[in-house]
Amino acid sequence: MFTHPTDGTLKHIAFIMDGNGRWAKKRGMPREFGHTEGTKAFRRIAEYCFRGGIETVTIYAFSTENWKRPQNEVAAIMSLFRSYLSLGMEEMAKNDIQITFLGDKSPLAPDVRAQMEKLERESAGNRWHLNVAINYGGRAEIVSAVNRLAASGVTEFTEDAISDAIYTSGQRDPDLIVRSAGELRLSNFLTWQSVYSELYFTDTLWPDFDEADVDAAVAAYYERTRRFGGV
Ligand code: IPE
Ligand code: IPE
Ligand code: MG
Repeated sequence: MFTHPTDGTLKHIAFIMDGNGRWAKKRGMPREFGHTEGTKAFRRIAEYCFRGGIETVTIYAFSTENWKRPQNEVAAIMSLFRSYLSLGMEEMAKNDIQITFLGDKSPLAPDVRAQMEKLERESAGNRWHLNVAINYGGRAEIVSAVNRLAASGVTEFTEDAISDAIYTSGQRDPDLIVRSAGELRLSNFLTWQSVYSELYFTDTLWPDFDEADVDAAVAAYYERTRRFGGV
């Protein structure tokens, strides 16, 4: 288990869980199999972070661009998400974890949306906070926030007003963003919130991502000096 220095600042870790497809391909399996395995890693990692005192964990599960994938893969991811909503996530909500979904729910199936809203409602106020980014895009998030503010009559857009209008309203920005599977980019993740996040990349494919990878990311974080533009 990782530890924090007494003045530790690491309270929010966001994960870009990437590499499910490559993990499956290496085993001669369909990409969907990688997503199933990746879902198991997701819960283990989130719970490990909470046990280590990380207050907020954000997971990138499906981007606004992921609809471009073959229809059968999108369907498999959505079906996995649907079954996970009523199994794993229900249990997590009972274990004092507040669940919030980041993203536009409107294109999702009505039963899925209803279950997402139920989980959000029932887990509100829980001790630990899990954000699941699904049909999430950082640019779309900013555009929709600005449109909503404009529709409510706001004419002067401040940073605080936009921060309050985006999906993570009231939440702390991620201190650390971790991406698995070797790509060195953010892929439209937390565009507004990531401006001063520390970034950590590892080659580990997401289904293989484990507690030791979290420990390594946390250790790397505490080696950094965050200046936020100061000296
Ligand atoms: C991440 O794994 C999961 C999603 C984007 C839904 P990928 O499916 O992107 O796996 P690779 O990058 O193709 O290996
Ligand atoms: C980012 O992974 C999205 C998620 C992890 C949900 P992608 O696999 O979609 O990103 P790119 O296409 O390699 O940038
Ligand atoms: Mg990928």
